Amino acid sequence: MSLPDAFKDELRARVPLSDIVGKRMKLTRAGHEYKGCCPFHKEKTPSFTVNDQKGFYHCFGCGAHGDSIGFLMNHDNMSFMDAVEQLASIAGMQVPKSSPADEQRYKQQSRLYDLMEAAATWYAQQLHAKENKKILQYLMERGLSSEIIKSFHLGYAPDGETADLKKSLLAAGFKPDDLIKAGLFKESSRKQGDIYLFFRARIMFPVLDLQGRTVAFGGRVLPPSHGGPQEKSAPKYINSPETSIFHKGRGLYGLSRARKALGDGKVPVVVEGYMDVIALAQAGFKAPVAPLGTALTEEQIQTLWKAMPDDSKAPVLCFDGDAAGQRAAARAMERVLPILKPDHSVKFAFLPPEHDPDSLIKAEGRPAMERVLKNAISLFDMIWQQSAKGRDMSQPEVKAGFRAALEKRARMIPDLSVQNFFLNDIKQRISETFLAKKQDAQRFENKPFRKGKTPPTGLDTPVRPPGAKVAPVRSRGSLQRDRVRVLLGLMISYPALYNEFGESLGMAPVADEEYDNLRRALINLLDTQNNLDYQAVKQHLREQGHEKTLENIFNTALHLHVKPGQPLDDARRAWQDVWNRGFRNAKTA
Ligand code: UTP
Ligand code: MN
Repeated sequence: MSLPDAFKDELRARVPLSDIVGKRMKLTRAGHEYKGCCPFHKEKTPSFTVNDQKGFYHCFGCGAHGDSIGFLMNHDNMSFMDAVEQLASIAGMQVPKSSPADEQRYKQQSRLYDLMEAAATWYAQQLHAKENKKILQYLMERGLSSEIIKSFHLGYAPDGETADLKKSLLAAGFKPDDLIKAGLFKESSRKQGDIYLFFRARIMFPVLDLQGRTVAFGGRVLPPSHGGPQEKSAPKYINSPETSIFHKGRGLYGLSRARKALGDGKVPVVVEGYMDVIALAQAGFKAPVAPLGTALTEEQIQTLWKAMPDDSKAPVLCFDGDAAGQRAAARAMERVLPILKPDHSVKFAFLPPEHDPDSLIKAEGRPAMERVLKNAISLFDMIWQQSAKGRDMSQPEVKAGFRAALEKRARMIPDLSVQNFFLNDIKQRISETFLAKKQDAQRFENKPFRKGKTPPTGLDTPVRPPGAKVAPVRSRGSLQRDRVRVLLGLMISYPALYNEFGESLGMAPVADEEYDNLRRALINLLDTQNNLDYQAVKQHLREQGHEKTLENIFNTALHLHVKPGQPLDDARRAWQDVWNRGFRNAKTA
């Protein structure tokens, strides 16, 4: 039931959110907001804020967000109406009676749920009826046990001539109009008032919503061997149309039965088809789901994330091993980038060519499917693989194009924290892959390259094998690291040097991630603001989280000239000196 916005606004205005929240957890004032440790995820430092003016809470840690109604629903596990009632009684307000139209809609929806349930039961009875023995046999031949057939409430919709679904539903008190609104019947265009069956001679897969109510059906055509059409005249599957209780892009097949397992930390496996979900479930996989006849939508990914407990959320998306599967995977990748947030991602698993999960399990058993899932690659590896596709990386300009493609994809991630880590990792992996360690080591350390170390990942295997550890990028010698420190220290202490040397700083190879990050932040800062003094620069960098790195730069006894406040000319000479020794002939970053 929906309430007028004006009523909800009034509720929010009358009951300060901090009163509601403050009664349930410790809040401390912070400016015009309140802060506390988030009640929705484990944390030690408070990142949960409550803003009374806006009437919203927000957690910067886990993203929990909502108003007072939402808080009561999530924190106290109340239903929407209970939360509203409770707030209204605190505010001394009367909950408005829902309008007759609301009531009407509500009643109709609950009638549709009942109707769909009745239809599912009827279809299941048909599947088990004597005259349809062949249909049940087909499912058994495909390897389904009778338990799994019952558990998924599979059914059969007989052909129109023999069917009396209509009779049965009307006898149960449903109206012809309901049959159409539920999507089970269509109005005839030939004869007014006539309705005809939408699903005929099809195996029926009831689709449940998150609460486990039947909201739609998928119907599979019979195979020719069992009375189905000889030619591909009919689509293999048809799905219920959108109705007031069914939205294709929202739900997932199998989700309601997977829900408990998801809560226990099982990772959802997203497959393509109804039969795949069922085969996986029968093989003992706890959380298989599938979209409903369309490609996986953003909303469905969000739904999966929501159903998973906090930690690191990464549903495994399974794709066929063929070219179409690769294309579908690439599209899923593009779809997920714009909604990525910290700890929220997906993985990609690829089936052997010629198989879907159902046929693979049937042919090779559960372990084969487990292998597929174990070999799932991360989103990062997926981006790497997709961007590398079709590029002959022996040429430098192709490598540059490759890097640009990677970075372009990383920039599709609106969450800046995630985006930055992607950009960093791209940088790191590029240097591991393309910059020969041997040469670099010699250049910077004048020591021979040590044998027996992992060589850089070759281009022929652009994606690291699953499970392999990345060797940490090692410092290329303490001398060189000191030089990097001096250069950074100089640039921070004498921002005026930036005009002259900013470009070189940008190109210098910097092996350590922490200095590289600081370098990038420094360049960004000086690029956009050119009148900053030494203190301001330091302050900015500290605020961006480089405190420790700054300490490393300034607290080590380095070159004398790093000290700020000396004549600029001395600083310039120091810069040139260090640059000439360590970087002039170096390959650029
Ligand atoms: P598949 O063709 O892979 O079918 O379609 P399947 O699920 O493996 O079924 P079997 O093994 O042949 O019996 C995958 C999914 O795509 C949707 C359905 O949701 C199906 O489960 N689909 C397929 C349609 O919606 N319409 C179609 O005509 C075909
Ligand atoms: Mn199949």
